Amino acid sequence: MKTDELSNINRREFLVLGSAASCLGIAALASTGAIYRYLMPVVSYGIASKFRLEASALPEVGDGLVFPDQKVMLIRKSDHELGVISLVCTHLGCTVARVATGFQCPCHGSQYDSEGVVVGGPAPQTLAWHTVKVLPGNEVEIDTSSRVDENTYYKI
Ligand code: FES
Repeated sequence: MKTDELSNINRREFLVLGSAASCLGIAALASTGAIYRYLMPVVSYGIASKFRLEASALPEVGDGLVFPDQKVMLIRKSDHELGVISLVCTHLGCTVARVATGFQCPCHGSQYDSEGVVVGGPAPQTLAWHTVKVLPGNEVEIDTSSRVDENTYYKI
């Protein structure tokens, strides 16, 4: 449209042009948002596989300390022995609960003894065990990505 044509448009044409311009503006804003969202990475960092614990926070001898976020339990067998057992059921991955006789899975009822050996239910394997490393500065480090033989205790 030329300038002299714009000055001669009637009210209906003005509203149609205004509506079209508004729709184009909204579409441009929406596509800008979609492009921005596409270019920005959506990243979710899970829980780190290694975590540390002060030696003063270790459980009492004969007891265990559960770390719900990491789904492991630190077991103190004696004054100088630590072990880490996974709380992830080997059937379909539910988190097992600690019971008087060991561990029990709330999903399908698998039962494990206190060392993670299957004693009932559909679970096909013993609960996993992980490494514990003593660090300088009176700390221990637990690595939940590791896998060691069951009943592996580390000297502290
Ligand atoms: S997930 Fe534990 S018994 Fe099925």
